Amino acid sequence: MKVVILKDAAEVAAYGAEIFKKQLLKKPDSVLGLATGSTPVALYNELIKLNQRGDISFKQVKSFNLDEYLGLEGDHPQSYRYFMNDKLFNHVDIDKAQTQVPPGNAEDPVAACQVYEQAISDAGGIDIQLLGIGRNGHIGFNEPSSSLASRTRVKTLTKATIDDNARFFAEGEYQPHLSITMGIGTILESKKVVLLATGESKAEAIKATVEGPLTAACPASALQMHKDAVLIIDEAAASEL
Ligand code: GLP
Repeated sequence: MKVVILKDAAEVAAYGAEIFKKQLLKKPDSVLGLATGSTPVALYNELIKLNQRGDISFKQVKSFNLDEYLGLEGDHPQSYRYFMNDKLFNHVDIDKAQTQVPPGNAEDPVAACQVYEQAISDAGGIDIQLLGIGRNGHIGFNEPSSSLASRTRVKTLTKATIDDNARFFAEGEYQPHLSITMGIGTILESKKVVLLATGESKAEAIKATVEGPLTAACPASALQMHKDAVLIIDEAAASEL
């Protein structure tokens, strides 16, 4: 696992965008694994700029998102489908039919997880997977205690994660407690993994990921087993290393 420590969030986004740019130039029909949360937004803004300048194209890209809230329709403003359209897909030349987010409105969520896994494998697997990290070390919605070999499945969110994400929901608004998330095993099969973390609130999770034991107590520590994983973090997120 490679760790790149940069001054601030802007540098983290620019460095991450450069990796995605190289990937798209090398393989224009890349299969991208994408992430939500506030951290990747600055990287998405960089990619939008590069696309609008004509430096990169998403025309041949396929994408798979990590996770989605179960019980939200894709047009719900807090759904991750809505987030991806709003923060990236609506602003670049991607074919939206080639973008996949786990279906939060699936009638049979368990079956939908298997369909999602199959779709990833039919696409030839993920070339590059973008990740954020939760304060408790979660990746996607793989909360602490998730099996390190897990596949796409329905996962209950921890109270810590529900509280962390409550800021996105209005007072009194229904906030899902369940999600569909790629598993840790699914993520580890991506050819390349890029994890971004910024801010002091992520420092403990980054310490556990980089210096801690390989453990389901910190799902991101599974990246220690990946042969091409890079953590791009700012000085604040690196402050406990
Ligand atoms: C959510 C997402 C994760 C993300 C995490 C951190 O729980 N499911 O994929 O990494 O939030 O989000 P943020 O970047 O806003 O701190």
